[in-house]
Amino acid sequence: MSAPSAQGGKFGSRMGFIFAAAGSAIGLGNIWRFPYTTGEYGGAAFVLVYIGFVVLIGVPVLLAELSIGRASGKNPVGAFAALDPGEKKRWSLVGGLGVLTGFGILSFYAVIAGWTVSFLIRALSGTFAGGMTPEQSGELFTDIIASPGETVGMSAVFLLLTALVVRGGVSGGIERAAKILMPVFFLMLVILAGRAVTLPGADAGLRFLFAPDFSKLTPAGVMSALGQALFSLSLGMGAMITYGSYLQKKERLPVAGISVAIFDTLIAILAGLIIFPALFSAGATGAKGPGLVFVVMPAIFDKLPAGQAFGVAFYALLAVAALTSTMSLLEVVVAYFVGQRGWSREKAVWVVSGACFLMAVPSALSQGAVDGLGADVLGESFLDIMNILWGNVALGLGALLIAVFAGWRWGVNKAVEEMGGMPGGALWGIAVKYVCPIGIAVIMIYSLVNWEFL
Ligand code: PFF
Repeated sequence: MSAPSAQGGKFGSRMGFIFAAAGSAIGLGNIWRFPYTTGEYGGAAFVLVYIGFVVLIGVPVLLAELSIGRASGKNPVGAFAALDPGEKKRWSLVGGLGVLTGFGILSFYAVIAGWTVSFLIRALSGTFAGGMTPEQSGELFTDIIASPGETVGMSAVFLLLTALVVRGGVSGGIERAAKILMPVFFLMLVILAGRAVTLPGADAGLRFLFAPDFSKLTPAGVMSALGQALFSLSLGMGAMITYGSYLQKKERLPVAGISVAIFDTLIAILAGLIIFPALFSAGATGAKGPGLVFVVMPAIFDKLPAGQAFGVAFYALLAVAALTSTMSLLEVVVAYFVGQRGWSREKAVWVVSGACFLMAVPSALSQGAVDGLGADVLGESFLDIMNILWGNVALGLGALLIAVFAGWRWGVNKAVEEMGGMPGGALWGIAVKYVCPIGIAVIMIYSLVNWEFL
């Protein structure tokens, strides 16, 4: 969802802010990334660990980011500089890491968002009419992602859309539209989940999602669950600092933050409730990896009345959800160049999205279009490496430093005061001072030392 301009704009209302923050949080992370990482790391045990991280680490860091943003009223780099009591303002480097991470995430996120546009076009032209087996949709997916013109072109289209919105031209319109579209998306996911869980053989999918088998949980799975919790809530890179800076002083942060976390988690679980029952019902348990959602969804549309229209609406709404997330990613980088470097918003938007497009090209080409960028050469594809490096490792490091800053440097009392006082303030203090830094550090060191994050 759009933020007001970085030149001191504010959200008009609490709902405006909640929708913007929820718009940033809810996106491909919930519908694309959550199901496939859950599939990769064994199902229910991963989901439980992920939910644990949302509560113990996600919510505290979310509140830390929002209060850092609102107290300073600045972009991530400016925010740390403003609140760092030290002379040298070294903590602004954490903001710098966040800006870099936003750029890195946007560069591969735009590629996946481009795939949703490709599928939307297929849905509109009737490709899914009459139903598709997972084999057929798998072939379609492989064709699309291996076509250099289409993947690079669609990434460009998506970055262009994002740039136009962040530039300010249509942001009001998008905001108004998304206020209606997000609830529609939610309703649609509920209907799809309702259909998926009643498919024959769906119970195996439900068991996969809800009956934990902890023996399947690996250290890499734990690291990914942490990364997923942060990624899904848009944490660890200053997106919520930036949005917090546009928030009016009278708003109470804890209510807003916790509502966003609840919505976001619900939507991820709903996505799981669609994908796994449908997957097991179609007997396509072999489908996995980043293509999971794209391969499974076409199989379920024709099981619904007006399935065709459903398909179109699904991809269209998914693209909108992705757009409200890419907007926040670009906004972080743009707010930095406007706030710290004195660039005009116009210049920042075009330079950053242009550069991001160049970064997106190798990711777009790494899915079969060009030899040398894929898993056969690099161990993981270039896109996967970007996803893990920025989406797990950099966000983890960022979240750790943000928690340390809020808990030890800026200080719990000041932060709690900024939040408008809150009943659980002392608990929050323990979380950002001890639980988050120690928890994240242990997980990251373990997985880095064992090279388990790749
Ligand atoms: N939270 C978004 C999603 O789940 O799709 C992705 C994202 C947006 C991550 C913004 C980080 C961020 F700052």
